[in-house]
Amino acid sequence: MTRKWWKESVVYQIYPKSFQDSNANGSGDIRGIINRLDYLKRLGIDIIWICPIYKSPMDDGGYDISDYYSIDPMFGDNEDFDELIRRADDLGIKILMDLVVNHTSDEHQWFKEALSDQTSKYRDYYLFKKGVNGEPPNNWRSYFGGSAWEAVPGEENMFYLHAFSRKQPDLNWENPDLREDIYEMINYWLDKGLAGFRVDAILNIKKNMVYGTLEPDAEDGLVYIGHWIMNQPGVTSLLKELNARTFEQRDSFTVAEAAVPNEDLEEYIGPDGFFSMVFDFSYTDIDVSETGDWFRPSGWTFEDMREKIVLNQLITQEKGWGALYLENHDQPRSVSKYIPKEDISDYSKKMLATLFMMLRGTPFIYQGQEIGMTNIEMNVIDQFEDIATHDQYKRALKEGVSEEDAFRLISSRSRDNSRTPMQWNDSKQAGFSESDKTWMKVNPNYTQINVDQQEGDAQSVLTFYKELIQLRKNSPYKEAIVYGEFVPELSNRTQTIVYERITARVNVLVAINYTNTVQTIRIPSDYTVCVLSNYDDRSTRLDTLLTLRPYESIIAANQ
Ligand code: GLC
Repeated sequence: MTRKWWKESVVYQIYPKSFQDSNANGSGDIRGIINRLDYLKRLGIDIIWICPIYKSPMDDGGYDISDYYSIDPMFGDNEDFDELIRRADDLGIKILMDLVVNHTSDEHQWFKEALSDQTSKYRDYYLFKKGVNGEPPNNWRSYFGGSAWEAVPGEENMFYLHAFSRKQPDLNWENPDLREDIYEMINYWLDKGLAGFRVDAILNIKKNMVYGTLEPDAEDGLVYIGHWIMNQPGVTSLLKELNARTFEQRDSFTVAEAAVPNEDLEEYIGPDGFFSMVFDFSYTDIDVSETGDWFRPSGWTFEDMREKIVLNQLITQEKGWGALYLENHDQPRSVSKYIPKEDISDYSKKMLATLFMMLRGTPFIYQGQEIGMTNIEMNVIDQFEDIATHDQYKRALKEGVSEEDAFRLISSRSRDNSRTPMQWNDSKQAGFSESDKTWMKVNPNYTQINVDQQEGDAQSVLTFYKELIQLRKNSPYKEAIVYGEFVPELSNRTQTIVYERITARVNVLVAINYTNTVQTIRIPSDYTVCVLSNYDDRSTRLDTLLTLRPYESIIAANQ
């Protein structure tokens, strides 16, 4: 197993609009991140991934970029960002940016020129296509709902493709000039001292264009676009070139948002893979339909979850290296998703933390996860900001779901759940902002869940996260936790998850009770030392017969 610095690292994801506001305008900024670097250092993380901060009209939280070379004034300016890289570096923390190159904003100069001059070279940077008697060229549904084609203003019977919102026109990766421009931009940022990128929606860059009316899959007469633009034949040649021209030359760290089929995984994350690692979706999207419909709950069970985690671990281990995560800016809060409401407590929060932080891979902690932030309760649909939330709600109603059910299902899945401001303390706006109004409502539970209260508390969720990070980074168990082989213990029929991390010498075993009742299991007799439990009265010597209390988690070692 090749050793790499990023395999031994812990990443922290920042949603910059909601992390820390430094100028009292109700919205987070780069200066706010700089002001909180000490906190992140104390937490023990090594890398920060910042969601997009480039110039953007913010139709989709910055994933609609209008200028790849400038920081959006809402976050500060390019000098602020340079300072962040420098100041983080002084603390030994590296920075990742988000790389959004499947599409730009419709306000990007390239797109504006493509619209204003049909002979411009930028026309071919996007995907324009004639319609059929004023109707779109096909009936693909964009990921955010509605047709994936938008009529070009002022041109008759002409459309452009957008896999996401209509303000996010897709780029044409078949065009070599476009690719050159993208590589140049990537290298510009890498040469500033960036450690690498989180690569957005990258499996969509190769399109398999088909036209006409395709068999619809829902009441809206449309069909899921992913079948023709996600992971299509030929995408790997594009990724190979992308890697060779940029990341590979600079030994960058990259993590791709890419649900890669198992048989292709090695090409992506193997020793010569296109990326350092990819995010797997199997257990984070466990609660929604395969085509990503939030209003069609999957009815998942604990056994499904365990199976998906185990499978992903085993396959990733065979092929290369993986990214671990339970939350991000597209997901609801993990405790709200994975734990029944009545069972949410510091015990179950710490149990989830143990489960995911001890798996094989590089852990990504999403802001607020480390203090156990939960979903926010809204009262009406208009309170949501997120574009996907509104689209899903509209589609649910169209499919005949009642308003009440639609609201309930969409609320629990809304991306806004993780985008509420970071809860720093129990003062006004949770210490996030001095402003009377924040861009997104602060979760009212900030008086009970906040950083200040947890930092000095030896029993807090935050302290527990710090302990888990230290186990990975700086303990006799580091080698096993980082590089050890993942070996699941599958003989238990109970609602437990048990796995080992095996090395030549020190081995670690993780045992998790995923229920609110007591469970007794048998563990191999060499695991006699309890390294860390979420119940602080657990004695340090273990028996082979292990009685786990509700949501108890244990990390055991053989020495
Ligand atoms: C990715 C991002 C998501 C965004 C989408 C379009 O899935 O994580 O937030 O909406 O790409 O760029």
